[in-house]
Amino acid sequence: MKKIILTGDRPSGPLHLGHYVGSLKNRLAMQQEYQQYLIIADVQALSANAENPEKVRENVLQVMLDYLAVGIDPAVSTIFLQSLVPEIAELTIYFLNLVTVARLQRNPTVKEEIRQKGFGASVPAGFFMHPVSQAADITFVKADIVPVGEDQLPLIEQCCEIVRSFNRIYAPVFPEPQGIVPKQGARLMGLDGKAKMSKSLGNAISLCDSADDIQKKVMSMYTDPNHLRVADPGEVEGNMVFSYLDIFDSNVAEVEELKAQYRAGGLGDVAIKRRLNTVLQELIGPIRDRRNEFAKDPVAVMQLLKQGTERAREAAAKTMIEVRRAMRIDYF
Ligand code: TRP
Repeated sequence: MKKIILTGDRPSGPLHLGHYVGSLKNRLAMQQEYQQYLIIADVQALSANAENPEKVRENVLQVMLDYLAVGIDPAVSTIFLQSLVPEIAELTIYFLNLVTVARLQRNPTVKEEIRQKGFGASVPAGFFMHPVSQAADITFVKADIVPVGEDQLPLIEQCCEIVRSFNRIYAPVFPEPQGIVPKQGARLMGLDGKAKMSKSLGNAISLCDSADDIQKKVMSMYTDPNHLRVADPGEVEGNMVFSYLDIFDSNVAEVEELKAQYRAGGLGDVAIKRRLNTVLQELIGPIRDRRNEFAKDPVAVMQLLKQGTERAREAAAKTMIEVRRAMRIDYF
Protein backbone atom coordinates (compact mmCIF):
# COMPACT_ATOMS: atom_id res chain seq x y z
CA MET A 1 0.00 0.00 0.00
CA LYS A 2 1.09 3.57 -0.67
CA LYS A 3 2.54 5.44 2.28
CA ILE A 4 0.38 8.26 3.57
CA ILE A 5 1.60 11.84 3.59
CA LEU A 6 -0.06 14.65 5.48
CA THR A 7 0.91 18.26 5.02
CA GLY A 8 -0.75 21.61 4.53
CA ASP A 9 -0.96 25.31 5.24
CA ARG A 10 -2.66 27.82 7.42
CA PRO A 11 -4.89 30.01 5.24
CA SER A 12 -3.58 33.36 6.43
CA GLY A 13 -2.50 34.79 3.06
CA PRO A 14 -1.75 33.82 -0.54
CA LEU A 15 1.28 31.55 -0.89
CA HIS A 16 4.63 32.85 -2.11
CA LEU A 17 7.88 31.64 -3.67
CA GLY A 18 9.13 30.49 -0.27
CA HIS A 19 6.18 28.09 -0.07
CA TYR A 20 6.87 27.02 -3.63
CA VAL A 21 10.47 25.92 -3.07
CA GLY A 22 9.92 24.82 0.52
CA SER A 23 6.82 22.71 0.08
CA LEU A 24 4.59 23.09 -2.99
CA LYS A 25 7.21 21.77 -5.42
CA ASN A 26 7.81 18.82 -3.16
CA ARG A 27 4.10 18.02 -2.87
CA LEU A 28 3.78 18.12 -6.61
CA ALA A 29 6.66 15.68 -6.99
CA MET A 30 5.20 13.28 -4.44
CA GLN A 31 1.52 13.24 -5.26
CA GLN A 32 1.63 10.18 -7.52
CA GLU A 33 3.96 8.08 -5.43
CA TYR A 34 2.22 8.59 -2.09
CA GLN A 35 -1.31 8.93 -0.87
CA GLN A 36 -1.22 12.62 -0.08
CA TYR A 37 -3.55 14.59 2.15
CA LEU A 38 -3.37 18.39 2.15
CA ILE A 39 -4.93 20.18 5.07
CA ILE A 40 -6.11 23.76 4.79
CA ALA A 41 -5.77 24.54 8.48
CA ASP A 42 -8.48 27.13 8.96
CA VAL A 43 -9.09 26.18 12.61
CA GLN A 44 -5.42 26.85 13.27
CA ALA A 45 -5.60 30.16 11.39
CA LEU A 46 -8.62 31.17 13.48
CA SER A 47 -6.70 30.60 16.70
CA ALA A 48 -4.60 33.68 15.95
CA ASN A 49 -7.38 35.50 14.06
CA ALA A 50 -10.42 34.88 16.23
CA GLU A 51 -11.66 38.37 15.48
CA ASN A 52 -11.03 38.19 11.73
CA PRO A 53 -13.09 35.27 10.48
CA GLU A 54 -13.63 36.97 7.13
CA LYS A 55 -9.88 37.09 6.50
CA VAL A 56 -9.52 33.36 7.16
CA ARG A 57 -12.51 32.56 4.97
CA GLU A 58 -11.14 34.54 2.02
CA ASN A 59 -7.74 32.93 2.32
CA VAL A 60 -9.16 29.42 2.18
CA LEU A 61 -10.07 30.11 -1.44
CA GLN A 62 -6.70 31.79 -2.09
CA VAL A 63 -4.73 28.81 -0.80
CA MET A 64 -6.93 26.42 -2.74
CA LEU A 65 -6.25 28.46 -5.91
CA ASP A 66 -2.52 28.35 -5.22
CA TYR A 67 -2.61 24.57 -4.83
CA LEU A 68 -4.50 24.09 -8.08
CA ALA A 69 -2.35 26.66 -9.91
CA VAL A 70 0.93 24.90 -9.13
CA GLY A 71 -0.53 21.63 -10.39
CA ILE A 72 -1.76 19.76 -7.36
CA ASP A 73 -4.42 17.47 -8.73
CA PRO A 74 -7.44 17.24 -6.41
CA ALA A 75 -8.37 13.89 -7.96
CA VAL A 76 -5.03 12.45 -6.81
CA SER A 77 -4.25 14.44 -3.66
CA THR A 78 -6.99 14.86 -1.07
CA ILE A 79 -7.28 18.57 -0.25
CA PHE A 80 -9.54 19.17 2.74
CA LEU A 81 -10.70 21.79 5.20
CA GLN A 82 -9.77 21.31 8.84
CA SER A 83 -12.93 22.87 10.30
CA LEU A 84 -15.20 20.49 8.42
CA VAL A 85 -13.53 17.38 9.82
CA PRO A 86 -14.93 17.44 13.37
CA GLU A 87 -13.09 14.21 14.16
CA ILE A 88 -9.89 16.28 14.29
CA ALA A 89 -11.35 18.45 17.05
CA GLU A 90 -12.57 15.35 18.84
CA LEU A 91 -9.19 13.66 18.71
CA THR A 92 -7.54 16.87 19.90
CA ILE A 93 -9.59 16.78 23.11
CA TYR A 94 -8.49 13.22 23.86
CA PHE A 95 -4.86 13.95 23.02
CA LEU A 96 -4.86 16.95 25.37
CA ASN A 97 -5.07 14.48 28.25
CA LEU A 98 -1.78 12.94 27.16
CA VAL A 99 0.18 16.19 27.20
CA THR A 100 1.29 18.39 30.08
CA VAL A 101 1.11 22.18 30.10
CA ALA A 102 4.82 22.22 30.97
CA ARG A 103 5.63 20.17 27.86
CA LEU A 104 3.65 22.56 25.67
CA GLN A 105 5.43 25.53 27.20
CA ARG A 106 8.75 23.98 26.20
CA ASN A 107 7.80 23.39 22.57
CA PRO A 108 10.26 25.58 20.60
CA THR A 109 7.98 26.12 17.60
CA VAL A 110 5.13 27.45 19.71
CA LYS A 111 7.45 29.44 21.94
CA GLU A 112 8.92 31.19 18.91
CA GLU A 113 5.52 31.92 17.37
CA ILE A 114 4.20 33.33 20.62
CA ARG A 115 7.26 35.59 20.72
CA GLN A 116 6.89 36.66 17.07
CA LYS A 117 3.22 37.47 17.45
CA GLY A 118 3.85 39.32 20.73
CA PHE A 119 1.19 37.36 22.63
CA GLY A 120 3.08 37.06 25.92
CA ALA A 121 0.88 35.67 28.68
CA SER A 122 -2.31 36.54 26.77
CA VAL A 123 -1.72 33.81 24.22
CA PRO A 124 -5.07 32.23 23.31
CA ALA A 125 -5.29 28.71 24.77
CA GLY A 126 -6.25 27.41 21.32
CA PHE A 127 -3.05 28.81 19.87
CA PHE A 128 -0.99 27.43 22.74
CA MET A 129 -2.14 23.89 22.08
CA HIS A 130 -1.33 23.88 18.36
CA PRO A 131 1.05 20.94 18.72
CA VAL A 132 -1.82 18.85 20.01
CA SER A 133 -4.30 19.79 17.30
CA GLN A 134 -1.55 19.33 14.74
CA ALA A 135 -0.98 15.83 16.12
CA ALA A 136 -4.67 15.19 15.49
CA ASP A 137 -4.36 16.56 11.91
CA ILE A 138 -1.60 14.07 11.27
CA THR A 139 -2.93 11.00 13.02
CA PHE A 140 -6.58 10.99 11.97
CA VAL A 141 -5.46 9.69 8.54
CA LYS A 142 -2.70 7.57 10.12
CA ALA A 143 -0.06 9.52 8.22
CA ASP A 144 3.38 7.94 7.91
CA ILE A 145 5.22 10.98 6.60
CA VAL A 146 4.91 14.70 7.31
CA PRO A 147 6.99 17.01 5.09
CA VAL A 148 7.61 20.22 7.01
CA GLY A 149 9.89 23.21 7.30
CA GLU A 150 12.73 22.81 9.77
CA ASP A 151 10.98 25.11 12.23
CA GLN A 152 8.07 22.68 12.46
CA LEU A 153 10.13 19.61 13.42
CA PRO A 154 9.47 20.01 17.19
CA LEU A 155 5.76 19.66 16.38
CA ILE A 156 6.37 16.28 14.80
CA GLU A 157 8.46 15.22 17.77
CA GLN A 158 5.61 16.10 20.09
CA CYS A 159 3.16 14.28 17.82
CA CYS A 160 5.32 11.15 18.14
CA GLU A 161 5.26 11.45 21.93
CA ILE A 162 1.47 11.66 21.88
CA VAL A 163 1.25 8.66 19.54
CA ARG A 164 3.53 6.63 21.80
CA SER A 165 1.48 7.49 24.88
CA PHE A 166 -1.79 6.69 23.12
CA ASN A 167 -0.52 3.38 21.76
CA ARG A 168 0.93 2.37 25.14
CA ILE A 169 -2.07 3.30 27.27
CA TYR A 170 -4.92 2.24 24.97
CA ALA A 171 -3.97 0.16 21.94
CA PRO A 172 -1.53 0.45 19.03
CA VAL A 173 -3.78 2.48 16.73
CA PHE A 174 -1.40 5.04 15.18
CA PRO A 175 1.88 4.80 13.26
CA GLU A 176 4.65 7.11 14.48
CA PRO A 177 4.91 9.76 11.77
CA GLN A 178 8.23 10.72 10.30
CA GLY A 179 8.98 14.41 9.66
CA ILE A 180 10.98 15.12 6.54
CA VAL A 181 12.52 18.45 5.56
CA PRO A 182 12.87 18.99 1.81
CA LYS A 183 16.56 19.28 0.88
CA GLN A 184 16.57 22.33 -1.33
CA GLY A 185 15.33 25.72 -0.29
CA ALA A 186 13.86 24.58 3.00
CA ARG A 187 13.97 28.21 3.94
CA LEU A 188 14.07 30.75 1.14
CA MET A 189 15.39 34.11 2.28
CA GLY A 190 13.35 37.21 1.55
CA LEU A 191 14.13 39.81 -1.12
CA ASP A 192 15.87 41.94 1.53
CA GLY A 193 18.19 39.13 2.60
CA LYS A 194 17.37 39.84 6.23
CA ALA A 195 14.88 37.12 7.12
CA LYS A 196 12.98 34.18 5.73
CA MET A 197 10.53 35.13 2.97
CA SER A 198 7.24 36.17 4.54
CA LYS A 199 4.30 38.18 3.30
CA SER A 200 3.96 40.08 6.58
CA LEU A 201 7.59 41.22 6.39
CA GLY A 202 6.98 42.61 2.88
CA ASN A 203 9.93 40.69 1.42
CA ALA A 204 7.96 38.13 -0.59
CA ILE A 205 7.02 37.42 -4.19
CA SER A 206 3.53 35.90 -4.19
CA LEU A 207 2.48 33.28 -6.69
CA CYS A 208 -0.32 35.64 -7.75
CA ASP A 209 1.89 38.74 -8.25
CA SER A 210 1.57 40.44 -11.65
CA ALA A 211 4.48 40.43 -14.10
CA ASP A 212 5.04 44.09 -13.23
CA ASP A 213 5.14 43.44 -9.48
CA ILE A 214 7.65 40.66 -9.97
CA GLN A 215 9.90 42.85 -12.07
CA LYS A 216 9.77 45.71 -9.55
CA LYS A 217 10.51 43.36 -6.68
CA VAL A 218 13.45 41.74 -8.46
CA MET A 219 14.88 45.16 -9.31
CA SER A 220 14.70 46.11 -5.61
CA MET A 221 16.51 42.99 -4.38
CA TYR A 222 19.41 43.12 -1.98
CA THR A 223 22.75 42.51 -3.71
CA ASP A 224 26.17 43.67 -2.52
CA PRO A 225 25.90 47.15 -0.95
CA ASN A 226 29.56 47.82 -1.80
CA HIS A 227 29.17 47.01 -5.48
CA LEU A 228 28.66 50.59 -6.65
CA ARG A 229 30.05 50.63 -10.16
CA VAL A 230 29.77 47.94 -12.79
CA ALA A 231 33.55 47.72 -12.97
CA ASP A 232 33.90 47.06 -9.22
CA PRO A 233 34.39 43.52 -7.97
CA GLY A 234 31.26 42.27 -6.19
CA GLU A 235 30.34 39.75 -3.51
CA VAL A 236 28.30 36.71 -4.48
CA GLU A 237 27.81 35.34 -0.96
CA GLY A 238 24.83 36.97 0.76
CA ASN A 239 23.81 38.49 -2.57
CA MET A 240 20.14 37.57 -2.90
CA VAL A 241 20.08 37.68 -6.70
CA PHE A 242 22.73 34.97 -6.88
CA SER A 243 21.08 32.99 -4.07
CA TYR A 244 17.88 32.96 -6.11
CA LEU A 245 19.68 32.15 -9.37
CA ASP A 246 21.22 29.15 -7.58
CA ILE A 247 17.75 27.92 -6.71
CA PHE A 248 15.68 28.88 -9.74
CA ASP A 249 18.02 29.04 -12.74
CA SER A 250 18.49 25.58 -14.22
CA ASN A 251 21.58 26.61 -16.20
CA VAL A 252 24.13 25.99 -13.46
CA ALA A 253 27.18 26.43 -15.70
CA GLU A 254 26.09 29.87 -16.89
CA VAL A 255 25.29 30.99 -13.35
CA GLU A 256 28.78 29.91 -12.24
CA GLU A 257 30.23 31.90 -15.14
CA LEU A 258 28.24 34.98 -14.07
CA LYS A 259 29.42 34.60 -10.48
CA ALA A 260 33.04 34.56 -11.65
CA GLN A 261 32.46 37.69 -13.73
CA TYR A 262 30.69 39.44 -10.88
CA ARG A 263 33.50 38.65 -8.46
CA ALA A 264 36.12 39.89 -10.90
CA GLY A 265 34.23 43.10 -11.67
CA GLY A 266 32.54 44.19 -14.89
CA LEU A 267 29.11 42.71 -14.35
CA GLY A 268 26.34 45.03 -13.17
CA ASP A 269 23.44 44.36 -10.80
CA VAL A 270 20.92 45.28 -13.48
CA ALA A 271 22.20 42.51 -15.77
CA ILE A 272 21.89 39.78 -13.15
CA LYS A 273 18.52 41.09 -12.02
CA ARG A 274 17.26 40.99 -15.61
CA ARG A 275 18.30 37.39 -15.85
CA LEU A 276 16.57 36.50 -12.57
CA ASN A 277 13.47 38.39 -13.67
CA THR A 278 13.28 36.29 -16.85
CA VAL A 279 13.69 33.07 -14.87
CA LEU A 280 11.01 33.99 -12.32
CA GLN A 281 8.57 35.24 -14.97
CA GLU A 282 8.91 31.88 -16.75
CA LEU A 283 8.24 30.04 -13.50
CA ILE A 284 5.38 32.14 -12.16
CA GLY A 285 3.71 33.16 -15.46
CA PRO A 286 2.09 29.77 -16.16
CA ILE A 287 1.15 29.40 -12.48
CA ARG A 288 -0.56 32.79 -12.53
CA ASP A 289 -2.37 31.94 -15.79
CA ARG A 290 -3.73 28.71 -14.34
CA ARG A 291 -4.64 30.53 -11.14
CA ASN A 292 -6.63 33.16 -13.06
CA GLU A 293 -8.40 30.43 -14.99
CA PHE A 294 -9.53 28.65 -11.79
CA ALA A 295 -10.39 31.97 -10.13
CA LYS A 296 -13.10 32.55 -12.75
CA ASP A 297 -15.21 29.89 -11.06
CA PRO A 298 -14.75 30.02 -7.28
CA VAL A 299 -17.85 27.91 -6.72
CA ALA A 300 -16.32 25.03 -8.69
CA VAL A 301 -13.05 25.43 -6.78
CA MET A 302 -14.85 25.24 -3.43
CA GLN A 303 -16.70 22.20 -4.72
CA LEU A 304 -13.35 20.44 -5.22
CA LEU A 305 -12.48 21.29 -1.63
CA LYS A 306 -15.82 19.90 -0.49
CA GLN A 307 -15.19 16.62 -2.29
CA GLY A 308 -11.72 16.32 -0.75
CA THR A 309 -13.16 17.03 2.68
CA GLU A 310 -15.72 14.25 2.21
CA ARG A 311 -12.90 11.81 1.39
CA ALA A 312 -10.97 12.93 4.47
CA ARG A 313 -14.05 12.38 6.62
CA GLU A 314 -14.35 8.80 5.42
CA ALA A 315 -10.80 8.15 6.63
CA ALA A 316 -11.59 9.98 9.88
CA ALA A 317 -14.67 7.86 10.58
CA LYS A 318 -12.64 4.67 10.21
CA THR A 319 -9.92 5.88 12.54
CA MET A 320 -12.41 7.05 15.16
CA ILE A 321 -13.98 3.59 15.38
CA GLU A 322 -10.57 2.23 16.40
CA VAL A 323 -9.91 5.17 18.73
CA ARG A 324 -13.22 4.71 20.54
CA ARG A 325 -12.70 1.00 20.90
CA ALA A 326 -9.14 1.50 22.21
CA MET A 327 -10.29 4.18 24.69
CA ARG A 328 -13.23 2.11 25.92
CA ILE A 329 -15.76 4.75 24.86
CA ASP A 330 -17.45 2.64 22.19
CA TYR A 331 -20.66 2.39 24.21
CA PHE A 332 -23.30 1.85 21.57
N1 TRP B 1 1.32 24.54 11.02
C1 TRP B 1 1.32 24.56 9.57
C2 TRP B 1 1.63 25.99 9.12
O1 TRP B 1 1.80 26.86 9.92
C3 TRP B 1 0.01 24.14 8.98
C4 TRP B 1 -0.44 22.80 9.45
C5 TRP B 1 -1.53 22.53 10.21
C6 TRP B 1 0.20 21.55 9.21
N2 TRP B 1 -1.63 21.22 10.47
C7 TRP B 1 -0.59 20.59 9.88
C8 TRP B 1 1.35 21.15 8.54
C9 TRP B 1 -0.22 19.24 9.91
C10 TRP B 1 1.72 19.81 8.55
C11 TRP B 1 0.94 18.87 9.23
O2 TRP B 1 1.71 26.23 7.93
